[in-house]
Amino acid sequence: MAGPASAAAAASAHRAGLAAAGPHDLTAFPGLARGLDLAVLRAIAAGVDAAAGPGPWTADEVADAFAAAERHRWIPGHWIAALCDEGMATARGSAFRLTAPPRRRDLSAARRELDRTRAALGYPPALTAFLLRTLRELPRLLRDEVSAQALLFPGGDTAVAEAVYRDNPLSRYLNAAAADLVRRLRPADPAGLRVLELGAGIGATTADLLPALEGVTAEYRFTDLSPFFLDLARDRFPQRFLRFGLVDFSTGLPDQKGPFDLVVAANTAHNAPHVPRLLGQVADLLAPDGRLLLIETCREPRQSLTSMPFLLSGRVPRQDPRAGTERTYLTRREWREALHAAGLRLLVDLPHPTDPLDALSQRVLFAAR
Ligand SMILES: C[S@@+](CC[C@H](N)C(=O)[O-])C[C@H]1O[C@@H](n2cnc3c(N)ncnc32)[C@H](O)[C@@H]1O
Repeated sequence: MAGPASAAAAASAHRAGLAAAGPHDLTAFPGLARGLDLAVLRAIAAGVDAAAGPGPWTADEVADAFAAAERHRWIPGHWIAALCDEGMATARGSAFRLTAPPRRRDLSAARRELDRTRAALGYPPALTAFLLRTLRELPRLLRDEVSAQALLFPGGDTAVAEAVYRDNPLSRYLNAAAADLVRRLRPADPAGLRVLELGAGIGATTADLLPALEGVTAEYRFTDLSPFFLDLARDRFPQRFLRFGLVDFSTGLPDQKGPFDLVVAANTAHNAPHVPRLLGQVADLLAPDGRLLLIETCREPRQSLTSMPFLLSGRVPRQDPRAGTERTYLTRREWREALHAAGLRLLVDLPHPTDPLDALSQRVLFAAR
């Protein structure tokens, strides 16, 4: 697939994505996503104010005020940087202060705005409940008395993860576009396609891919770092061509026996300490003309500031373009460069930069060896 063929594939995947997203006014989404981000940030400012007062303080003094655990001490500084970016805090040297100390009624307004924008973006109420829970628990999260994972999967319940990775218009767009792209694959080997999914998690993308691959697939290797997700998937997916395996891709992929016709990594490849290296290892596992399907984020959404940073604390330091920064994700340009450096040819990159969904910063990248 190259040139006009990939343009046709992109157009078809985009149509499939829009159909799955449902009857929403997507042109309103950039403004709504920004509203949600700002509401979360206002609530974080109120949390900082409650612990440390309106300032001036240094980032370290805020970490002290929260009695933050050693591994999480960087997080208040990360929030303060976001508050400064949005004009909610100002800096003088290494000291900061909140621009307008939050009042009780501002916090109630932020919570209402958070729920309004969540609903208008088509996320289930579970997302509001989760965000409010993390906001309430910020002090205990920082002290490491409760983990972000425990709040994300309370009692093993996957409703929040489903809300974030599946049950909303943006995820429906991405997962349906991905399914449309893989539906076109035909096995070179008459035995059928061999597929490897990395960091498959709750299977939010897998659930759309499996029906698209049914009938042409010999083996779909569903892998993750955590046995919890493998057990969930064994219960959830009946397809006989599924195989399961524990794989930590941050240490390479030496045990995976290629070649694979398709490798999938949805919302997970950014966990690699060196993304270009991971993509190079994936490229080595692909059959000639095999495909890599990525769903990835290109900018940290502020709405994730009460959870994502806690999941990152203590991880192996990033050794790629993110080295020395607090960035979780590569930029769109860095993702494209990393694919290129791995010898992969980008065929489809959706949504188009002029599409309103582009502002939500998650994308489907489909590349060929
Ligand atoms: C945000 S979730 C996305 C899950 C999934 N792709 C989905 O769409 O439902 C990220 C997943 O990546 C997995 N993960 C994180 N780091 C990993 C690693 N180094 N190797 C393998 N899996 C990893 C986590 O266990 C989690 O299931």
